[in-house]
Amino acid sequence: MQKISVRGGKVLKGTVEISGSKNATLPVMTAVLLGESPSILRNVPHLNDVKTMTDVLTKLGANAVLDDHTLKVDPAGFNQFEAPYELVKTMRASIYSLGACLARLGEAKVSLPGGCAIGARPIDLHLKGVEQLGAKVTIQHGYVHAVASKLKGANIYLAGPHGPSLGATVNVVLAATAAEGTTVIDAASTEPEVEDLVNCLIAMGAQIEGNGTSKLVIHGKKPLKGVDYSVIPDRVEAGTFMVAAAITRGNVLLKKANAHQLGAVIEKLRQIGVTVDETSEGIRVVGSGEYKPADVMILPYPGFPTDMQAQIMALLATVPGNSIVTETIWENRFMHVFEMNRMGADITIDRSHAVVKGVKQLTGAPVMASDLRASAALILAGLVADGETLVQRIYHLDRGYEKIEEKLSALGADIKRIS
Ligand code: EPZ
Repeated sequence: MQKISVRGGKVLKGTVEISGSKNATLPVMTAVLLGESPSILRNVPHLNDVKTMTDVLTKLGANAVLDDHTLKVDPAGFNQFEAPYELVKTMRASIYSLGACLARLGEAKVSLPGGCAIGARPIDLHLKGVEQLGAKVTIQHGYVHAVASKLKGANIYLAGPHGPSLGATVNVVLAATAAEGTTVIDAASTEPEVEDLVNCLIAMGAQIEGNGTSKLVIHGKKPLKGVDYSVIPDRVEAGTFMVAAAITRGNVLLKKANAHQLGAVIEKLRQIGVTVDETSEGIRVVGSGEYKPADVMILPYPGFPTDMQAQIMALLATVPGNSIVTETIWENRFMHVFEMNRMGADITIDRSHAVVKGVKQLTGAPVMASDLRASAALILAGLVADGETLVQRIYHLDRGYEKIEEKLSALGADIKRIS
């Protein structure tokens, strides 16, 4: 089993290039299944989740080949409608095959994803959405089976108890492109990854209004063609490197990072005392010796993202004073707290709040990663901890960060992967 070893104390300096977005690549990979000709996707990151989605596409009969950061997808053979348990249990985003299969084949059979380390992760909104488009949905033997002889446009309100759903919006948008008439999605997710999906579909010939807003209007049944499309940069990877620069009091230029998609993170870092400047090449982050504590409320986009909660907590754990981090999206996303406390942090959990009392010095320790962003946060803590931090279960990390240890090492971190 591989581990990451980090020895703290190095100040990060230099330039890092931000990779393509994982969470934008996965929906776009399913969208191009709907084209009548092959597509080329560029800026595709080398990640295990992208590999799993390639396996999903292959299972559905399409041909997908990744060469360097360019993915060629030929949907000509797309005639299978089942995403099996083996793939869905590896990656929940396999659920996007529900919308794509319904749109193209009128039938989808997808293993129910179940919960994971960060929460229950229901899919009721996905199912409600496709049912309102006319699909008949049954659940049996752990699989969702959806059939639609004809999809018909509908008015769909898509928010759940914690706000809009990125995944449900993806599935409903995909299915609605094949529905007769107009679909209006209210309370659609406005996350940049949904915007990127819609941009890709528009480039394929779809007629969609309101992109980037919470009201999407989709005029279905337009013929979709293959596309040559470049995926947006990964805002969570960018945010993670911003915290890496801040926590080590470094000076790092994040090439290709898009400040417009990171407003809440930039604002919070500035409030803490970090200098963040937008440049023509990306974002420059300069750390200082003087930081102030800050409260962080996780909210749906454009609020502070849940996918940056663990990372900002690593920074706040090192800032003297009290900070409160409130998680409102995933009910169980505090697993990293226990590991950070093993590194000398002083964090207590009170329901959805984490009370972070900043300490002067973290100490390296063997720690266990519970999910993707928790893994990154433990590495961030390790960058300033005294001695060695050994992060275990890094298979989570390889799902969503391209060459993170190589990128950090190039900035001066003392970090290596060990078998
Ligand atoms: C996406 O998950 C991301 N994953 C997550 O990133 C991210 O944390 C999340 O959006 C929120 O930004 C991918 O893009 C692959 P949701 P998704 O549906 O789509 C509730 C990472 O680290 N909900 O927007 O599964 C749900 O319980 C991952 O890269 C329902 O109630 O998230 C949650 O509270 C982790 N019913 C809220 O909505 C539903 O049917 C938002 O979930 C669906 C969701």
